[in-house]
Amino acid sequence: MNRFARRALLALAALAPLATPAAAQQFPGRTITVIVPFAAGGPTDTVARLVAESMGRDLGQTIVVENAGGAGGTIGSQRVASARPDGYTLLLHHIGMATTPSLYRRLAYDPVGGFEPVGLITEVPMTLVAKKDFPANTLAEAVAVIRRDRDTLNYANAGIGAASHLCGLLLMKAVDAPMTTVPFRGTGPAIQEILTGRIDLMCDQTTNTTEQINSGALKVFSVTTEARIPALPNVPTSAEAGLPAFQVSVWHGLYAPKGTPAAVTQRLSQALQVALRDPKLVARFADLGTVPVPQAQATPEAHRAFWMADIAKWKPIIQAAGQYAD
Ligand code: MLT
Repeated sequence: MNRFARRALLALAALAPLATPAAAQQFPGRTITVIVPFAAGGPTDTVARLVAESMGRDLGQTIVVENAGGAGGTIGSQRVASARPDGYTLLLHHIGMATTPSLYRRLAYDPVGGFEPVGLITEVPMTLVAKKDFPANTLAEAVAVIRRDRDTLNYANAGIGAASHLCGLLLMKAVDAPMTTVPFRGTGPAIQEILTGRIDLMCDQTTNTTEQINSGALKVFSVTTEARIPALPNVPTSAEAGLPAFQVSVWHGLYAPKGTPAAVTQRLSQALQVALRDPKLVARFADLGTVPVPQAQATPEAHRAFWMADIAKWKPIIQAAGQYAD
């Protein structure tokens, strides 16, 4: 028997105990780790910590959130794609799961086939924000400044494939003015640089910007949804402010490694659906400008269908832009 066959048999033997219905029924028997592929303190981290706390109560187990940022979320994603498929290592990621397959052409993991979708979580609006002394007070004024000062302005994002990167692509296309882009391991650290004034502007999710906007620490020019949002009632939509093409919302989902037993992903999906009905989570999401997805979307089947459709949607957009990460 050659060494590959032997290795495959050993791997199957290691997984055998997991496949039994009893093992799946005993799940979870220990702490679960949710990997967030961006730095702590950012919007993805915020969603993950709220979901983990609530899911943990339903599962009767501690769920720890671990941040593994870098390379637009692909470093953390690879961690989970190569983890043991037992339900104890999960990935909480966002729209990047739909754009990475087109943006990255030489990944060390399969950005689609490496995961089992567990369920969708929420869809978060984005806001175009700037440092307090940015010389504009409306989106139209900001567009004029971006076009005039494009060679000196800098724009932050969380790496190629991050939501802040995609939103920046849409912005620069809409205003026809590329800017210098400064990548961070997440928009948590990035927003700190805007607050100090070292970075001029960024497109970031309301889960990270709402409180800073309402406190006056950040300037905001628009929200990237079709309608205004209750958490930021005075912020105009991009369409109202004159840039109808500048629209994007950031969906988030939960994933397990490929090969995780269906009974385990179903139990995780059940806990996720309970979490999305948790009044504390729902209220916190509302404060941060978002709402949980309908229960029917928090299933593995619905998540997979949505994810595949969004991969197909973004592929021609990314190929037309011709900008790849590798
Ligand atoms: C993004 O830009 O994709 C996210 O805001 C990154 C993060 O959650 O830090």
